[in-house]
Amino acid sequence: MRTTYEKLDRNDPCWCGSGKKYKKCHEAFDDRMRLLESRGEIVPPRYLIKTPSQIQGIKESAKINIAVLDEISRTIKIGMTTQEIDDIVYSLTKKMGGIPATLDYQGYPKSVCTSLNNEVCHGIPDSGRILKDGDIINVDCSTILNGYFSDSSRMFMLGDVSLENRKLVEVTKECMEIGIKHVIPWTHLGDMGDAVHQHALKNGYTVVRQIGGHGCGLEFHEDPFVSYVSKPGQEMMMVPGMVFTIEPMVNMGTDEIYQDQENGWTIYTKDGKPSAQWEVQVLVTETGCEILTY
Ligand code: MF3
Ligand code: CO
Repeated sequence: MRTTYEKLDRNDPCWCGSGKKYKKCHEAFDDRMRLLESRGEIVPPRYLIKTPSQIQGIKESAKINIAVLDEISRTIKIGMTTQEIDDIVYSLTKKMGGIPATLDYQGYPKSVCTSLNNEVCHGIPDSGRILKDGDIINVDCSTILNGYFSDSSRMFMLGDVSLENRKLVEVTKECMEIGIKHVIPWTHLGDMGDAVHQHALKNGYTVVRQIGGHGCGLEFHEDPFVSYVSKPGQEMMMVPGMVFTIEPMVNMGTDEIYQDQENGWTIYTKDGKPSAQWEVQVLVTETGCEILTY
């Protein structure tokens, strides 16, 4: 059978770059991966298992990512434009030595995504878009430092937000937190995704199906695609060393969405009802996960 988990010589240095001998490092891990593969499980290929030095690099990138969102949370206010948010993200990211990952990414024109109310994701900052009393907004920030990627987003509520919208924002945060709790090594991404989905459904909400989380670290968007409408026991197994995002988009009404035909990016809810999203990037560990961005 073909496998990406070919064995090395037991006394060779381990492929993960730890400097330890293979037999003292990832040999047992590789054996386990081959066994799971032989049982028909989807396991991450070796290139998705981050080495200690790659994890270090991602964590350095994440420091900028977190600092930028912290700065937005200190400065965001009614009357500000979404372009001003973009300016802060750009200048602080640069000042800290990083690059905004979205800028020029597949033609995306800005340094951050700002998605308000009925916008699901990929809202483009605009000097004509002014934050109003009662708005809910997702600010999605992604950072490159020394070739390592970090990605996270938060919701902000401006002024007097309706009880309904407040609840959507809070339940969506709980969905993300439930996702984090269900990152358990050697279980399936579908177990985690379903837990997120059930919490949204229980509250009368839906979860966007076509867009989801992703591996992230050496590239902006890596495998696997992480769905939050997936089924228990299905999808790729979560394995120590994987890094991916948890970023469910939760809609108050229908899960149906459409894309802006003019700018080619912004996604809206089909029924015009609000949508919320929170995003973290996690590292799967031996016992659960470590949160890298928030
Ligand atoms: N930050 C988004 C994510 O979570 C990606 C946005 S891609 C963009 O994956 F080009 F639209 F910015
Ligand atoms: Co993401």
